[in-house]
Parts: sequence; C-alpha cells; structure tokens
Amino acid sequence: MPEILRRTLRDVFRHMTRARLALLPVLAVMLLLAATPLMAPAQAAAQAADEDGYALWLRYAPLPGAARAQLQAQARTVVRLAPASPTTDAAMAELQRGLAGMLGKAPATGNTVADGALVLARAADLPDTVRSSLALADAGTEGYVLRRTRLQGKNVFLIAANSDIGLLYGSFAWLRAAASGAPLESASAPALKLRVLNHWDNPDRTVERGYAGQSIWDWWALPDIVDARYLDYARANASLGINGTVLNNVNAKAEMLSPAFIAKAAALAGVFRPYGIRVYLSVRFSTPLELKETATADPLDPQVRAWWQREADEIYRAIPDFGGFLVKANSEGQPGPQDYHRTHVDGANMLAAALAPHNGAVMWRAFVYAPGGTKTDDRAKQAYDEFKPFDGRFAPNVLVQVKNGAIDFQPREPFHPLFGAMPRTPLMMEFQITKEYLGFSTDMAYLGPLFQETLAANTHHGSPPLSVADVLQQAPGKLTGMAGVANIGSDRNWSGSHFDQANWYAFGRLAWNPRGDARAIADEWAAQTFSRDTAVRGAVTGMMMVSREAVVNYMTPLGLHHMMGTGHHHGPAPWVDNLERPDWNPVYYHRTARDGIGFDRTATGSNAIAQYAPALAAQLADPRTTPEQVLLWFHHLPWDYRMASGRTLWQELISHYDRGVRQARDMQAQWAALAPAIDARRHAETAARLQRQAANAQLWRDACIAYFQSVSGLPLPAGVAPPAHDLDHYRKLRFPYAPGNG
Ligand code: GCU
Repeated sequence: MPEILRRTLRDVFRHMTRARLALLPVLAVMLLLAATPLMAPAQAAAQAADEDGYALWLRYAPLPGAARAQLQAQARTVVRLAPASPTTDAAMAELQRGLAGMLGKAPATGNTVADGALVLARAADLPDTVRSSLALADAGTEGYVLRRTRLQGKNVFLIAANSDIGLLYGSFAWLRAAASGAPLESASAPALKLRVLNHWDNPDRTVERGYAGQSIWDWWALPDIVDARYLDYARANASLGINGTVLNNVNAKAEMLSPAFIAKAAALAGVFRPYGIRVYLSVRFSTPLELKETATADPLDPQVRAWWQREADEIYRAIPDFGGFLVKANSEGQPGPQDYHRTHVDGANMLAAALAPHNGAVMWRAFVYAPGGTKTDDRAKQAYDEFKPFDGRFAPNVLVQVKNGAIDFQPREPFHPLFGAMPRTPLMMEFQITKEYLGFSTDMAYLGPLFQETLAANTHHGSPPLSVADVLQQAPGKLTGMAGVANIGSDRNWSGSHFDQANWYAFGRLAWNPRGDARAIADEWAAQTFSRDTAVRGAVTGMMMVSREAVVNYMTPLGLHHMMGTGHHHGPAPWVDNLERPDWNPVYYHRTARDGIGFDRTATGSNAIAQYAPALAAQLADPRTTPEQVLLWFHHLPWDYRMASGRTLWQELISHYDRGVRQARDMQAQWAALAPAIDARRHAETAARLQRQAANAQLWRDACIAYFQSVSGLPLPAGVAPPAHDLDHYRKLRFPYAPGNG
C-alpha cells in the first residue's frame, strides 16, 4: 500500500472518533479502490515519471495501443494547404508536437494530399464541392470544422476554417479530442467576441489576489529579455480560444502608459499575435494628471481628451492590434469621472472616442461602491443604482464589465441584477478565476459549477426569458465578452496548484461556449491532465464536481457571504465589526442576532430584490420560494425557521458546516486512493493541499459555529461535535503574510 494511502487511512481512523460512522462509506470506497488496480501496468509505468505541471492540459501523453493506431491512421502526414503565416506555422508546430507526444513520433509534413493526411485548409484553399459540404459559414471568422472527407481523390481528415486563427483553434480542438478520446469530428465557433484574461499584476511583479508566485510578466527584463514562457502562455490560452489579455492590475499605476511600459507591452503583444491574443491595459483614470501632462483629469476637458487621443495613437503605433482599456473608476478609492462631477458615461465615452479610430474597446467596470459607505443601505445595490440609468448611453465600443454577483466573488452569489436590466448596453461577464475567497490555491474548488450556475441562471427578463448567457450574447452586431481574473503566476505549475489549472481551463472553455457543461469540461480536462482511463478521470471529475460545494458548505452555506478575514480574505472572521466602512465588516452581511440570521433584502429590508425582474423579485420576496442555497442572502430568518428538510435553520446551518468538513475529508480519501494512477509528484503535491484543506474546513466549521452560538445562545443539536476551542481562540488567530495582498 502506498505511503500516502497509509497515512490517509491513519488520519481517517484518527478522525473516526469524531466523525464516527459517517466516514465508513468513504473508508469502504478507499479500500476497494486501493485493492483494485485502476490502470494497466503499462499505463501505470507511463504515469510513473515525475511531472511538475508545467505542460498544463497540453501534455500530449502517449496514447494506449489501440487508440494510438486509430489516431495514426488519421494523421499519416500533416499537410498545409493554407498559406504559411505565423498563425498557421503555430498550428503546424502544435500538431507536430501533439502527435509526437501521443504517437511517439511526429508524422512528416508537406503540401501533397495523400490518403490518411491531416489537412489544414481555409475555405479559399478548398474546391467548391468540399467547401459547400462543410457549412463553413457557421464557423464565422474564428470557428472551425473538423471533418473526414475526400479531397483530391484521397481520404483525409480536414481541419477547415475561414481564417488562420480558425485553423489554429481547429488544430487545438482536434488535439484535445485526440488526447481525451472524444470524437474527432466536430464544428464550433465562439459565442462571444472578447474572451479575455484580466491579470491583476503590478509593475513590481506582485499580484493582487495572486496565489501562484510572482507575476508571470518580468516587467524589469522586458522588452529586451522575452521569457520563453510567454509563448507557452499564448499556446495555453489559444488552446481554449482566449483571445485577449489585460496585462496589469485594475488598480492601475499611471506609469503603465509611459513609453517604457508600452514598449514592454509591445514585446508581449509580439509573442501573442500569432496566437490571436490581443493585449489590453488597465488604465488609471487620472493618468494624464499624475504624469503632470494636464492640469486635470476631467473627461470633458479638451486638453484631457486630446491627451488620451495622443496616447491611444502612440500605443497603436507600437501595438497595431492593441485591444483597448480596462477601467476601474470611482471604486475603492480609484480616481474616476465622478471626482469632477461627471458620470461613468462621460468617462467611458471619452476613452472610447480615443480608441475608436483604431477599433479599440473600453471595458468599463461596474464594480463600484460609493465612498463613505453610508450613501446606501446595501452595498449589493450600488452598481445597479449607478449603471442602470445609463442604459443605451455608452459609445458602441464600450462594454460594461459586471462581476458575476453583486458583492464580490463569494463562494456563492446570486447572479448580478444588472444582467438583463441594461438591454441596450453590451454587458461583459467578469468571473474571478483566482480564488480570493475560496481558499486561495491551497483549497481545491473547481469553479466550473460556479461559472455554469451563473451563466445558466434565468434572469426572467425578456420573452422568452433570457439566461445570463443569453444576455451576454444579446446584442447582435455589438461587442460581447467574458473576462476572467487570472490565476496565473510564475509558479512552475502556473496556477499555484495542479487543480487550479482546471479553473483557467473551465473559464476559457465557457468563454468560448457559455452554455458548456462544467462536468464535461472537468472530464475533458482530467483526461488530458491526468489520465484517459475511465475510472481515473471519473474519480478526478467526481472530486472536482463536489469541491466548490464543499467550500460553500464549510465557509458560507445557505447564502451567507463575506465572512472572511480582513484584507487577505483567508480564514473565518464572522465576528469582525470594527472596520471603518460598515460594508467591510462581516457582521454587516450576515446580521447574526439573538433573533436569527441573514440579510433582509426584501421590501422590509434593503429591497435589493426589486432590482431583479418582477417575476424573480416576487419569488425572492418569500423565503418559501427562495432557493435555500441563497436563502440568507435575501432573508433574515429566525433560528427556528423550518427548512425544507424539516430541520430548523439552526440545525440546517450546522449540518452544512459538518457536510463541508466531511466533503473535504472525502476528497482527501478519494485522492489518496488514486495514488497508483497518478504520477508521484503531482499526487503528493495535491495530497498535501487536500490535507490542509481538510484542516481549513474544520477551522471554518468550528470558528463559525462557535461564533453563531455565542450570539444565538442556542445549544448544539444532539450528536453535533462542539468546536475544538472556545470562540476566543478563533478570534485571536492571525494569518500574517497571507499571499495576494498585492
Ligand atoms: C475585490 C478585491 C480587490 C480588487 C477588487 C476589484 O474587492 O479584494 O483586491 O481590487 O475586488 O475587483 O476591483
């Protein structure tokens, strides 16, 4: 029995006294799995090599015998009918790399069509008969068609598209299918135009909310020294269809627009260009003023407008395909148009005018909350209040970038009420891939279900009613997009942990297709990242699919939110009540009192529910028709409120915390049982994190229960284990030097 499994079993036995019978099924599964070899010896040998995670999902591991022979027959040679270009060169190189890995030997390349050739061709390179059979019109400018067909009298596999970038995306899709064992034939086109990573990276290489080392951008060395890693970054993103990257933090420095930094950004843009990735910059609204080039930053001042125009022209001279600006204005102390009694529209449209001649876009963030903190009774209402009145008033090249929920990237939030409420404005989704509030890169939480839950939510706006994904696509001919706050850093494995790579992956796949399925995406990722073996990928996917709900359960169940430690947002701190702004304090959000718990956002409280479409607002007005997952987000309820299960709210709350702890331990046990099937290094690195996660879950559970009990005064339900320590112990815990404070 492997050491790791032995240790886990020992830990499980140790916990037995506390968790008692609940762990028995886990144990049984572990023993069963330990006794059953999960893979054939040959495969196990292939897995034995140490892997450090650098290759991401692009490992192109050797295929097992039968699959290898099948694939070989589809790619005896790789033929490019499309003209050579940096992008088709990249596609050819990737196909060679992938096939060399999976088949053990790269096939020959050339431009002669032969039986068994894998052929790269644009529509223009194909005879009419073949072209018309492919429905390439549906592929648009970025999509692709992967099809077996006859060409020049030969049986070939065709990767076809209307553009070079479509061919690159098609090549990645073909390799993905080959590596994960999916059908090779398919056709796809992206549903959204801008699929963008947001790096919150600072010029000094710190990363705000970064848990994967330093910034991947070595700003100091750029532009002269261009790390080879940037190319792998481009490959990874292009493999998902990500086509933009905002290089720097939304809390931007004015220097980012200095000639020196534009040259650095231009060097990166040069690496990314063949991969279809455009570079964007976050800009500080007061840049011209801070660089002492204007006397104000008022967006209606002619000198300010002229400055931005000159600046845009200069950027485009260095980066002809520059994407545009991302702006955080009048939020959390950042400067903005309101400093000059102007509006978001004035600010965004001024920047849009500067970029428009170059086809650049402005992504203007809706994450705002009023300075002073007392202007509204509920922070959750502020973005809607500030933005909704401006629907239809932004320039055509402005997107309003809205976080998935109205507070701030919590483990679970209802979808943001702005989705569906601004039909005449392109709204861009902002997800957070880096796990600021979900245990950093130490706790496993696969975010696919969180993303999917938001995208699939019914806004109840429109007829037929639109989902959030529909809203993102709603403006035909207009800009559309999705942004993800990146979890990428200088760590060898890119994301801080192996499983956090899956969150980057899931974001990219859902930005391409917002109707994608989180489980299918996890399965596809697991097959490429760990193993094609059905039992292994099934077990990995199973863990992933539970992981985010586990975090919700042990941190913020039933709609609770924002109970994390001050500043760094790690660890429980529901008791904090002394911060300067009321809405920085956890007590503001959970409102735990002798009489009950939760934030009343109905008409008797802040009435935030009125920001949703009437049909949804009506549903949320009544706790009985509010989904229990978000119950305490919308309602303040008595401790003895009867839940659907028949338990009281108090009992149910505690049972969620206990379930979260159990789920964290189960994941640990399930991973331990996978030891024979996963390469040693990645297995051990993940096992260590899961062990820490189980401890973190216990800490959250104990600290929260101790705190709630101190306020409710209620006894613990029968059979519930008391917290290991008294409340004071938890209140005194400190997490100095927690990462991510930028
Ligand atoms: C959160 C996060 C900040 C970040 C902000 C934003 O509040 O903690 O670090 O700057 O979101 O999205 O702008």
